[in-house]
Amino acid sequence: MAASKSPGRFKQRNAIAPHSQQASARRKSIEEQRRALPITIARQKLVDEVHKNDTLVIIGETGSGKTTQLPQFLLRAGFSKRGKMIGITQPRRVAAVTVATRVAEEMGSELGREVGYSIRFEDATSDLTRIKYMTDGMLLREALLDPLLRKYGVIVIDEAHERTVHTDVLLGLLKGVQAKRTEEHGPKKEPLKLIVMSATLDAQGFSTFFNNAKIVYIQGRQFPVEIFYTFTSEADILDASLITLLQIHTEEEPGDILVFLTGQEEIESMDRLIHDRLPRLPPGSLKIQVVPIYAALPSEQQVKAFIPAPPGTRKVILATNIAETSVTIPGIRYVVDPGLVKSRSYNPRIGLESLIVVPVSKAQALQRSGRAGREGPGKCYRLYMEETFKQLENATVPEIKRCNLASVVLQLKALGIDDVLGFDFMDKPPKMAILKSLEHLYILGALTDEAKLSDPVGIQMARLPLEPLYAKALLISANFNCSKEMLSAVAMLSVESIFFVPKDKKKEADAAKQRFLSGDGDHITLVSVMRAFTDEVNKSGGGVVSKKQILRWCIENYINMRSLKRAVDIYRQIEGCIQAINLPVLSCGEDFTSFRRCLAAAFFLNAACLQQDGTYRTLANNQVVSVHPSSIMHGKKLDCVVFNELVKTNKQFIRNVTRIDSLWLPELAPHFYGTRDAVSACPVCESSSDDMILGCRLVQT
Ligand code: CDP
Ligand code: MG
Repeated sequence: MAASKSPGRFKQRNAIAPHSQQASARRKSIEEQRRALPITIARQKLVDEVHKNDTLVIIGETGSGKTTQLPQFLLRAGFSKRGKMIGITQPRRVAAVTVATRVAEEMGSELGREVGYSIRFEDATSDLTRIKYMTDGMLLREALLDPLLRKYGVIVIDEAHERTVHTDVLLGLLKGVQAKRTEEHGPKKEPLKLIVMSATLDAQGFSTFFNNAKIVYIQGRQFPVEIFYTFTSEADILDASLITLLQIHTEEEPGDILVFLTGQEEIESMDRLIHDRLPRLPPGSLKIQVVPIYAALPSEQQVKAFIPAPPGTRKVILATNIAETSVTIPGIRYVVDPGLVKSRSYNPRIGLESLIVVPVSKAQALQRSGRAGREGPGKCYRLYMEETFKQLENATVPEIKRCNLASVVLQLKALGIDDVLGFDFMDKPPKMAILKSLEHLYILGALTDEAKLSDPVGIQMARLPLEPLYAKALLISANFNCSKEMLSAVAMLSVESIFFVPKDKKKEADAAKQRFLSGDGDHITLVSVMRAFTDEVNKSGGGVVSKKQILRWCIENYINMRSLKRAVDIYRQIEGCIQAINLPVLSCGEDFTSFRRCLAAAFFLNAACLQQDGTYRTLANNQVVSVHPSSIMHGKKLDCVVFNELVKTNKQFIRNVTRIDSLWLPELAPHFYGTRDAVSACPVCESSSDDMILGCRLVQT
């Protein structure tokens, strides 16, 4: 055995010399790629325009080099004088990480030094950092500590066409910051240069918003992409995607395939389906290498999608709409597009937000197919009929118009912007949504009767990088001796799919889940998984062997190791935040009643009681809901529960459910479950229902 192993080792040693050759070849090829980017010839013009204009809108097709090159142009042109940084915001964490990694490599510097990134729960920057990629949400958080963002000489709002809620708030905020900085220092000194970058031609809106800012277009380059539609509509999208990609693989020329799926779960199922089919590929076909890319994937794995497949292998990239415009993966020649996307939707009347799978817009479908024609002619397979395409909406509605604004309103308040309704939004969110969020924050105790941030609760809530409901839950958890349990629950709820349930091993996976099960609900079950995992890690210490042990533990218990590791990481980070505001971190041990009482006190807005027909009715807004099949409380009849999530599919489901005693509600949330005065018509929103009154009264005062 030993003898048969050694040639392998030798090979590795010998590989050192070719390796450095490889590295220099890679550097050369990167240099060539950069020279060939459409943005390269526009370099001087762009630098000149940034000198001349404090605000600039730059439009260029995806892949033209905006995100990776522009910050480097600006750095070399001296826009990072006196230690000021060039900040570039991205709507998605994946983009922030992968682009920073790439740019660090291009500049030959270590990631986190001159080039770094900052995303929620992960900071890879240092005092040396000059180019900083970050999520739009992170820059918004930075503004809380440094309202005039003095660390930055230039801020680039990238992917502005995505119109995430954070990007929209930033647009309004930065407009104000720019004006204030000019006011303070005079127009010549320390102006804030603002650049809005977008991949779509619809630039006028941005220019108008910034007082007719100059628009610069970068000439793009796109090869023809042949589009195919299906003859009938597909019932099983995963199956249709699988068949299509296998067909491409066996019948078409080499070239990588990009498949657009809606989320981690779908991507993981598809990954398994492909692996099941691999042994049955016709002899002589290329090998297949599957690489997933989605938001929750750990950073080091996201970067893998960009590494070219070895010779004789076709790369199949399974991506969410991240790969639509945010990241450009080289080598793609075929796109499989089921035409669906997971999208946020918010019903302010019910006050609950849900993630639903919806058809993409025409603009998105075009972006997706465009990914096949970046390096040569390509093909795009739309898994829907041509008729369906014609009926798609032209563009996606900005997120600010369809999401819960509680978190954003809390941040605006923390930034001292009290008149949220009068804030300079590029597109105003529905008034009702703002009023509801004010009401929500007031009920949580984050706002005073005058709709000002309350001290200390509101201030502390704004400091925690979490949704207000979770922030509040953590703040009160010490009173119930269960900060550790709440930290675990919140961390576990911040990641997707802790449990790993292969289709063909459902029984085994269910049996494994029994070990962690609590008859009282999902939250306690999640806490038990986290406890068992940390016990396992502590038991085995660090090192390679223990890594294997931990992996084995995860496989045996049907636990998704990636998700769980990330949850542990998030736990540590929020624990740090809690300690920073001097709150004790206590544990209730086995006294889970305290924990459940804390859940009731925190999530009282999401309480539901059983009805005779086995469904539940939410107490805050009278909605009929059912317990989701993924919940361990599914099929059980419990008098009263609290939940975290409302998902809409064929009906309204609640997820992450825990049993509570209904009498706890008036005891723990008397301000909400005490008697409320009914009022007739509201002078602000003209609604006749009394549920709007609170929000309106807050705006009036
Ligand atoms: O921002 P824009 O869409 O205009 O382009 P970019 O993200 O700057 O990408 C420019 C080029 O860099 C593309 O050809 C990408 O394939 C390449 N790139 C890469 O190879 N690896 C990355 N992590 C990011 C970009
Ligand atoms: Mg870009």
